[in-house]
Amino acid sequence: MGTARLGRQLRRHAESLTALGVTDVPRAPQPARAGQGLGGAAAGSVEERLARLAREVQTCRRCPLYRTRTHAVVSDGSPRAGLMFIGEAPGRDEDLQGKPFVGAAGQLLTKMVQAMGLRREDVYICNILKDRPPGNRTPLPDEVAACLPFLLEQIAIIRPRVICVLGAVATKALLGDHLAITKVRGQVCEFQGIPVVPTFHPAYLLRNPPAKKFAWIDLKRVKQLLEPGAA
Ligand code: URA
Repeated sequence: MGTARLGRQLRRHAESLTALGVTDVPRAPQPARAGQGLGGAAAGSVEERLARLAREVQTCRRCPLYRTRTHAVVSDGSPRAGLMFIGEAPGRDEDLQGKPFVGAAGQLLTKMVQAMGLRREDVYICNILKDRPPGNRTPLPDEVAACLPFLLEQIAIIRPRVICVLGAVATKALLGDHLAITKVRGQVCEFQGIPVVPTFHPAYLLRNPPAKKFAWIDLKRVKQLLEPGAA
């Protein structure tokens, strides 16, 4: 990506964080230098980098959510995945098991993946927040800002060919606060040169089954983008 485009994207992101009320963004994990420990995130194999990131997430105290977590929830699936799903935050089941999307919404997500002709273990699944907000409330802007560097690191390590963001919170956190899911779904967006397909969150689809037909349109678009030479 050109410097000017990256600059525009960063500026837009900073503006959307400001609009969300975020006043202070914690430092992202530092760029890698060989032999460094945590924070030297680009050194080593994909597996080593993910293991370092997982340790950092599991000991994170960047926002108060660490006080109420049972487990931090980093990811599930393949480090070699071409497709990354990004949800909102762990719920009760995920907090108890330490794995994303294992409750009712997760079961629907697994079915959606299988309907695409893929296996859950072949995709990479993660969330904007790594700790459960009490009572599954909507993540606060400061929590999103504190956790976002982990997601950016996951994207940098996995380098997926396509990202599918699930629901309003993930769409706004990744693409900008000005984007409403109802406006932006149906379009292919972009983050750091990676095509991003926003679709409805599986929990919303459980509450609104008629919206499943739109999610299926989005997933078929994702499938097209995953075809060799498409993205
Ligand atoms: N909802 C999410 O957004 N993420 C999960 O991991 C589970 C439910």
